[in-house]
Amino acid sequence: MAESMNLASVWWDGKITPWEDATIHVTQIGTASVSSVFEGIRAYLNPNTNELNVFQLDAHLKRFLQSIRLVRLECDYSLQDLHDAVVSLVRDNDPDRDVYIRPFAYAESRTFGAATSTLAHVIIHVTDWDSKLKTDTVSHSCVSSWTRLTDNQMAPRVKASANYLNSRYANEEAKRNGYDHAILLTPQGKVAEGPGMCLMLVRDGKIITPSVTSGILESITRETVMQLAREALGVQVIEREVDRTELYAADEAFFCGTGIEVVPIVTIDRLKLGDGNPGEISKKMQSCYHDVVRGIETRYGEWRTKIGD
Ligand SMILES: Cc1ncc(COP(=O)(O)O)c(C=O)c1O
Repeated sequence: MAESMNLASVWWDGKITPWEDATIHVTQIGTASVSSVFEGIRAYLNPNTNELNVFQLDAHLKRFLQSIRLVRLECDYSLQDLHDAVVSLVRDNDPDRDVYIRPFAYAESRTFGAATSTLAHVIIHVTDWDSKLKTDTVSHSCVSSWTRLTDNQMAPRVKASANYLNSRYANEEAKRNGYDHAILLTPQGKVAEGPGMCLMLVRDGKIITPSVTSGILESITRETVMQLAREALGVQVIEREVDRTELYAADEAFFCGTGIEVVPIVTIDRLKLGDGNPGEISKKMQSCYHDVVRGIETRYGEWRTKIGD
């Protein structure tokens, strides 16, 4: 992995602020995090033009504003304000590589959970996170003994920091037992998603994925992959409830998400999918996604925001 990038600044409540000056009082670390929500966005270099493109920027910012609203915070910034903030922040940090952009909203609070303030403070920062697309990364996954959160407890649809304790339990158990990733089921035993990514199965040449009411984050990569599957690969996609045994019966499977990108799953609970190698549709999807996010594929330009000078 290359050296980490130089972190020059963060965007904080409307201002590009030097990295070292973006501090908050230590007593706020716990309490301000309870109501916090965030996004994770990637920007990719196009190897032909050396231009950096933010992928699905407005879709992520729309979900960010929705998460802020659903935790009942008020945000002073519009979609356009946040779009401009991301572009100017990335320019200010002047990266010469792929980057990861994290908008984060929180409310100041003196207590855990009481709604003492409704004003969302917004921080955006940019850092490096190397892409694993077109590397040989695969996943040996397991079904977690932890169940996914439910909509009327802590809604997975909201990208709230607190939801990620559920993810942490599942991740930690999977690693401890020698797996790469966990797959979480709903309390009813249906397949939901991974701790930070969605799941696609392939059966008889068709992609099957849990529906948005299966305890999942309404993932932007999931939508992207479904559209690419239908339009670019000519593969049918079905959104529906998915049984646990369908995981084992699948010919192939892959995870998708901004962070994980597209990663083939080769075993689940030590049972091989297909011949235990990445499946054809998973490989085609990874290659297609790679070309689209980098802008090597010139179609789908509406998903890429150029950073420019
Ligand atoms: C729980 C969870 N599910 C799915 C995803 C994938 O969402 P997206 O494709 O919008 O990044 C993420 C990643 O952010 C996530 O944290």
